[in-house]
Amino acid sequence: MKRIIPLHQNESYWLLDEELMELIKSELDASIFSTYPEYERLKDMLAEYAGVPSDSICVSPGSDAAISLLTELCTRKGQRIILPVPTFYGYERILARHGADIVPTYYSEKDDRFEFPLKETLANINDNCAIFLCHPNNPLGCIIEEAELEVLFDAAKSQNALVVLDEAYYEYGGTTNVDRVLDQPMAVLRTLSKAFGLSGARIGYAVSSPDIIRSMQRLQLPWPIAHSSAVSALVLLKNEKKVARRREAVLTERDIFKTELAKVPGIEVFESATNFLLARTDNAAEFAAKLKERGILVAVTDFMTGFDIARELLASTLRIAIPSPDDREYVLDAFHEVSLQLSSEVV
Ligand SMILES: Cc1ncc(COP(=O)(O)O)c(C=O)c1O
Repeated sequence: MKRIIPLHQNESYWLLDEELMELIKSELDASIFSTYPEYERLKDMLAEYAGVPSDSICVSPGSDAAISLLTELCTRKGQRIILPVPTFYGYERILARHGADIVPTYYSEKDDRFEFPLKETLANINDNCAIFLCHPNNPLGCIIEEAELEVLFDAAKSQNALVVLDEAYYEYGGTTNVDRVLDQPMAVLRTLSKAFGLSGARIGYAVSSPDIIRSMQRLQLPWPIAHSSAVSALVLLKNEKKVARRREAVLTERDIFKTELAKVPGIEVFESATNFLLARTDNAAEFAAKLKERGILVAVTDFMTGFDIARELLASTLRIAIPSPDDREYVLDAFHEVSLQLSSEVV
């Protein structure tokens, strides 16, 4: 069977090495599958990892479930949601499902970099809204500058507006603002899907004030996560130093892969503070299809937003997770081959 290299969903597919997998396996016995999960222990460990008290943590089956809970809290109060786009495509879907009143603001591009729509976002903040920020951004890969975040937080605080700050990728080069959650209405969203390589376990968490956490938990049913997932997460949290070393390897590999990918004719690669790269090429859809023929899956970004201006910004781009050092050469060769093939087809 042809091997598939999965670079299309921002998973850190090579982060869990044999040593970490052995540690997880050694904790999985029959009782894990026949009893309800250890939710409280997981909450305590996540609190310790985030540096907050346990009553500031809400665990959810993936951080997309936490996005959904927070959206429900906002829509119940009739709050509008300011959404700088493009952003993680789950936001548009979840907000639409809850019938949220979305106020889009638009990232732009200047000198090969993406710019956060600061003025537009500030102009829309009022006392009946929430702001959903993605820092670092998926799919753009960029951060929001600290000075911009400061201004946004201050403006939100002055209007008592909730800030939802998605830090799904913060361990890969963002910064955290988790220490602000007790100062103003704010929920920081995290996940073990990216920096812990646990996408399949579906463990996300929100960090917020005990009040907001209680409101979120009232919308949840007991034991929202699987026991086997909770145990896997506990093992990795206990072995955080080992996980951090593997993450360092992903970062090293990101630099090498980015430099090499930029050498492929016709490919423009953007800066990234995440475990993936955004790259522009003449015909992203065809490029992706030809990579797929070689077993390499990458994401064509045009499905990620329904807003035309954001779609224009993403025009003809591919989102590519960082391949493993073992896969790097094969992936780069494939990019070169496809680039050559497509340019000769144009001639
Ligand atoms: C910015 C961002 N937030 C949230 C999620 C959802 O992550 P999960 O539901 O796996 O925790 C993703 C997934 O790609 C993401 O990119």
